Amino acid sequence: MSSSSLQWFDRARAVTPGGVNSPVRAFAAVGGTPRFMRSGSGAWLTDVDGATYVDLVCSWGPMLLGHAHPGVLAAVGDAIARGTSYGTPTTTEVELAEEIVARTPVELVRLVSSGTEATMSAIRLARGFTGRDLVVKFAGCYHGHVDSLLAQAGSGLATLGVSSTPGVPASAAAQTIVLPYNDRAAVDAAFAEHGDSIACLITEASPGNMGVVPPQPGFNAFLAETCTRHGALFVSDEVMTGFRVSRSGQWGTDGAVEGWTPDLMTFGKVMGGGFPAAAFGGRADVMAMLSPQGPVYQAGTLSGNPVATAAGLATLRYADEAVYARVDEVASVISQAASKELDAAGAPHRLQTNGNMFSIFFGDLPPVTDYATAQTQDTDAFKAFFHAMLDQGVYLPPSAFEAWFCSSAHNDRAVQHVLDALPTAARAAASTGRAR
Ligand SMILES: Cc1ncc(COP(=O)(O)O)c(C=O)c1O
Repeated sequence: MSSSSLQWFDRARAVTPGGVNSPVRAFAAVGGTPRFMRSGSGAWLTDVDGATYVDLVCSWGPMLLGHAHPGVLAAVGDAIARGTSYGTPTTTEVELAEEIVARTPVELVRLVSSGTEATMSAIRLARGFTGRDLVVKFAGCYHGHVDSLLAQAGSGLATLGVSSTPGVPASAAAQTIVLPYNDRAAVDAAFAEHGDSIACLITEASPGNMGVVPPQPGFNAFLAETCTRHGALFVSDEVMTGFRVSRSGQWGTDGAVEGWTPDLMTFGKVMGGGFPAAAFGGRADVMAMLSPQGPVYQAGTLSGNPVATAAGLATLRYADEAVYARVDEVASVISQAASKELDAAGAPHRLQTNGNMFSIFFGDLPPVTDYATAQTQDTDAFKAFFHAMLDQGVYLPPSAFEAWFCSSAHNDRAVQHVLDALPTAARAAASTGRAR
């Protein structure tokens, strides 16, 4: 069925480690052959065998408007016709920065090429600004493959971290304190012990990288207040949520309502419109420390690339209230229907949502508030569900620890295609794993 994908996967493995350029694409968590995609249009992907899928990955978040959106393609085509990179300032990057500043509380913003670069640079800036070295992060939050952020908890709650992958020096991981998410007592303990040395706390504004695990009410406000009290910076990572869960991202639904502001924020995905563009920004006095205005060095040959910024700018300009309303509606219909069918099939699960992001934790488990709980999910049931959906032409994230993403291009036909696939997949989940 996926014979060309199999052939391409063999070719890929001969020249690329694991055959992919980002690990989760390899289907290692679900087994089987990753589909090599040839094209995308609206809500649909077509693979090299010509099979079509309703896409619920959306490039892991960026494709808020769906694939090959005509307005974005026109903006990109226009930009490309004028050359693809100059290494000079351009007007589009200013307009994209203005759009970001208009939608979020950041006062100044610097464009980079990936979310990893954004968080890496934000942390360097926080260290440069505070003159401190330690970083606090939460287990299960992913901020890209930055050395000091690939750490896991040490032996005690407030102790320094250890590397979570070979290749990260122990000294880099030891600059990071890793805490359980949503755990105020752990945050208090870490700041009580190390408060004077903490440069920043970085958190996903609402985690989507351990499945969807929203902050408990007031948790982000508590983090912001704790950081301020200890002279540390609060870095809200909105690479995934930014411009997706609302026009102002997660901050639009919590900070803007509760009256607090992160010191620094990181963005990516949607703001690049499917191209490599990301950003970090925040308080003017902190951002002023950045080279060439200040002493903290940061640079990039392709930063603010004219094609990427044209795609991002067009995407944000098309992302109006109607777009967010449609994405919210699609996510609600699909997630509720999935949960209903799983109930009907007798497959225990927990649906977790954060606006238009959602994921389903399989198994009989309590509300998932942290990574330790997320790890107790029944990944075999997810695998069965995933493959049954794939066989019926629905492309889900190939891992149980990922959010599902919808777009405004998911029209009624695409949504119905997903709904029609659910009963079979729900039965597959019910007959596998711990549910059996
Ligand atoms: C919250 C968050 N931060 C940072 C990153 C890293 O972004 P990139 O993959 O563009 O380096 C990701 C990627 O998924 C992310 O979800």
